[in-house]
Amino acid sequence: MVKEDKIASIADLASFCKKNGFVFQSGEIYGGLAGFWDYGPLGAELRNNIKSLWWGAFVRKREDVVGIDGAIITHPMVWKASGHVDSFTDPLVDCLKCKERHRADNMLEDVGVENADALSIERMDELIQKKKIKCPKCKGDLGNVRRYNLMFRTQVGPVESESSISYLRPETAQLIFSNFQFVQKINRMKLPFGIAQIGRSFRNEISPRNFLFRDREFEQMEIEFFVHPDEYNKCPFMDEVNELVLNAYSSENQLKKQKMKKIALKELVKKKIMKANWQAYWIAKQYYWFIELGVSPDNLRVRQHLPDEKSHYALDTWDIEYQFPFGWKELQGIANRTTFDMTQHMKYSKKDLQYFDEETGKKVVPYVVAEPSQGVERAFLVFITDSYRKENSGTKDERVVLKLHPKLSPIKIAVFPLLKNDDNLVKKSREIFNELREHFETFYDSSGSIGRRYRRMDEVGTPYCITVDHKTIEDNTVTVRDRDSMEQMRVKTDELVNYLRELLSGKIKFSK
Ligand code: GAP
Repeated sequence: MVKEDKIASIADLASFCKKNGFVFQSGEIYGGLAGFWDYGPLGAELRNNIKSLWWGAFVRKREDVVGIDGAIITHPMVWKASGHVDSFTDPLVDCLKCKERHRADNMLEDVGVENADALSIERMDELIQKKKIKCPKCKGDLGNVRRYNLMFRTQVGPVESESSISYLRPETAQLIFSNFQFVQKINRMKLPFGIAQIGRSFRNEISPRNFLFRDREFEQMEIEFFVHPDEYNKCPFMDEVNELVLNAYSSENQLKKQKMKKIALKELVKKKIMKANWQAYWIAKQYYWFIELGVSPDNLRVRQHLPDEKSHYALDTWDIEYQFPFGWKELQGIANRTTFDMTQHMKYSKKDLQYFDEETGKKVVPYVVAEPSQGVERAFLVFITDSYRKENSGTKDERVVLKLHPKLSPIKIAVFPLLKNDDNLVKKSREIFNELREHFETFYDSSGSIGRRYRRMDEVGTPYCITVDHKTIEDNTVTVRDRDSMEQMRVKTDELVNYLRELLSGKIKFSK
């Protein structure tokens, strides 16, 4: 009987990622910079796999979504029109003694206040007094809560003036809205359709925390899905998602202090808990994406924002949440942004950005029924957390294994010569390695015992290891070892590429 332990804490996860070269604190040799992270070779591969799988599923394989790649710094009026200059703020509180600054809602959540970010500034002040909250650093008294803008300001060009101020984008979404008309017209897109983007975003978070969960520089994968304003319920693909059963936590359940419910998506739509079926469809598609990449459905739920928690632009927002070692937290937000952004950009640019509906001969303001907005770092955390196992079978044979979906694994195949000093074995192994790396991310390792080499590959999620031994020289077969079952079988070298391709794509299962 194998005992399986999951990752115990976010601190353990951070040290696991550092030890294996996935992620390092940025600028660590100078003491590090909070909220910024650098990714090592395996981390960079995993990030690339996440992004290309997302792009593949939601852009490349769809006729109704096209992609763009917008600038990080854009015209400051974009951020004025979107409301970010005036309202993209977090509640900040200063310590009157040591002057340290803290995020007021986080401090309240730490003492058990739920959804504190939905509270007014006045209510936060009241609760800080009532719960006698002090500065976590020096135990000094706290001042009044105030709003703090999260955008990083920068100067464009050599002359410093009010008009040269711009911002590093805090979301990729606004580049989609401001380019809507170019993309729609040039690509002859017809409603309903989506525009997607993957790119860096920046927020000067007051207190970045929980490893990669809240960063100051991160990357978003976003889609704005535009529909005709009268047709937000006319999704033709509901059959694809109706049968999905998920953990759902409606705002009504939360307000009544009830538990989340396991319920079919079609019920949520029928009961009008999810109000627009296009939005329900996108929630389900994003939920499925995680499940199909191996995340346990028990660790996922959808939670509806409370009425006073929603962003200034949103009519209805659902988060996909994951059960992290520090509790259920937002993995992705899917907001119904209505016509808010396009109307704002028309008002501020004084340009007509409406869509011309050829069927009715009328112009309409495109309606964003769903904005799936996913952070790459949070997906990265989820895939590692969910696949991490410490296995102990009662003997000294303990192993740490990342049971990553093979499509996510940074290294797909490892090749080992049984002995590193045997010229024949090394030559044959290098030949096999060179052939395999034409097809897959392949790693060559000749140091340490075979057992240790397997363990190293298990720990970074490599699904298959190939060992070249004396029998290989005799009959051109190698040992293929499966990460999850640890079983081994012999495969002919000339069948290896096809066999591994079929295994990795899920067409066949590993069996002896
Ligand atoms: N365009 C909508 C938008 O940006 P958001 O809820 O502020 O909405 C969307 O962010 C997603 O971006 C989040 O669900 C999360 O995955 C990621 N994200 C937001 N802020 C982040 C931060 N400081 N660090 C890491 N990821 C973040």
